[in-house]
Amino acid sequence: MIPATQTAHFIANRWVAPAGGGTIPVVDPSDGAVFAYVARGNAADIDAAVGAARAAHDGGDGPWGRFSALERGRLMMRMAQAIADNAEELARLECRDTGKPMKQARADAAAFARYFEYYAGACDKLHGDTLPYQRGYTVLTLREAHGVTGHIIPWNYPMQIFGRSVGAALAAGNACVVKPAEDACLSLLRFAELAAAAGLPAGALNIVTGFGHEAGAALSAHPGIDHISFTGSPATGSLVAQAAAVNHRPVTLELGGKSPQLVFADADLDAAVPVLVAAIVQNAGQTCSAGSRVLVEQSIHDEVVQRLAAAFAALRVGPGEADLDCGPIINARQRARVQGFIDQARGDGLEVAAAGTLAASAPSSGFYVVPTLFAHVPAAHRITQEEVFGPVLATASFRDDAEAVRLANGTPYGLVAGVWTRDGARQLRLARKLQAGQVFVNNYGAGGGVELPFGGVKHSGHGREKGFEALLGFTCVKTIALRHD
Ligand code: NAI
Ligand code: MG
Repeated sequence: MIPATQTAHFIANRWVAPAGGGTIPVVDPSDGAVFAYVARGNAADIDAAVGAARAAHDGGDGPWGRFSALERGRLMMRMAQAIADNAEELARLECRDTGKPMKQARADAAAFARYFEYYAGACDKLHGDTLPYQRGYTVLTLREAHGVTGHIIPWNYPMQIFGRSVGAALAAGNACVVKPAEDACLSLLRFAELAAAAGLPAGALNIVTGFGHEAGAALSAHPGIDHISFTGSPATGSLVAQAAAVNHRPVTLELGGKSPQLVFADADLDAAVPVLVAAIVQNAGQTCSAGSRVLVEQSIHDEVVQRLAAAFAALRVGPGEADLDCGPIINARQRARVQGFIDQARGDGLEVAAAGTLAASAPSSGFYVVPTLFAHVPAAHRITQEEVFGPVLATASFRDDAEAVRLANGTPYGLVAGVWTRDGARQLRLARKLQAGQVFVNNYGAGGGVELPFGGVKHSGHGREKGFEALLGFTCVKTIALRHD
């Protein structure tokens, strides 16, 4: 078990005190109380971590760089097993740190193990090609690791987002430097110990905790990083991309969304409604792929709202450990932001179709917001256009396919979309027209499975994570042209 106060970085398989000596309090969102401290990393700590990672990779000659694909796969399978063996402890840390209900934290731990399992199996199936070229030549491509990859992780799903990002990067043979979110990093610090115990060589994985504008900014700008992977807000994503551009480093950005679900009159509503609710309530709406807009064909709009309202009215909010439908919001600032959206929408006279209730067990010092359903929300309103990152659902109606597509695509984002209809031609026609990295038909994956490529268009970012596709982003192609005749 990680000590309640883990005020050190994990660099080259050792706990290293922060160069600046500072700490950051760790707050339990369920009651607002400080229960631990983590190290406040700065540029010197990032520099040490990048140095350790460079030595571990060392152009393929370092202790990690020398691992064959088969050896990497076997080691990653042991890491997956270590996560699975310690899933309950990891889930409890994540629940306390983020406030998410235990069932969600357990699902996250299971997905974390699954990422390592998936990428363990992929290590020795990643390869280049031989290419037809002029007579007398043999041309081949190698898929090489970038070398050292940087990973900036948000607080909403620390284990899952670390799993999809670091799992794929390690599988491709990179050494990693990770900057978790200042609001939630305990599960990842514990994982670092498990990884070292499983046999990961020193420097292959380094974790520097700290604030974004300090440790995060230093990582994005470090010339010793060969690729940066970032998940978070569009504004911070721009800063990361600008810093990386100074060194001409590639970035993968996953920047959230305003994902729509389209419900047609022929849809199976008994199947759809529970999924529509779960897609916005999961993790208290703090999900990049949250289904935050429900667009309904006019003839059934009010029926769908009634069904959603009945479900919303039954939702209960409370501490993570109480394991209700919704936990608290991550911190006081985000709580104020989410509540601000709700208050403004109410003030603007939007129709509140239903709201959940706060459980009596919820301490008044916790960062709670009750799930709120707004109906008939205009297309230009803030809660249609902006990512709330809370349990707030907005409905609107459409007349035909063309209007459905126009509304669905009418935000700056494009991450995920859902389509509910029994009409097979419409399923595919709309799936092609929707601006999104993933489209779910008659289901909604809230991020989708481990195996499914995931990422955005427009302000939702670029690059793909998850699935085999992620491995392509964490490698660089080298072409070798041999003339033999
Ligand atoms: P953020 O984008 O500022 O934080 C995400 C990560 O970036 C954290 O690890 C943070 O320390 C780091 N960071 C912050 N400033 C940085 C900088 N200058 N350079 C490098 N790294 C930096 O997001 P924040 O403030 O926690 O949340 C604000 C909004 O962002 C949310 O309301 C939500 O809309 C969105 N968001 C989206 C997420 C997603 O899954 N796509 C996850 C978290 C937030
Ligand atoms: Mg916390």
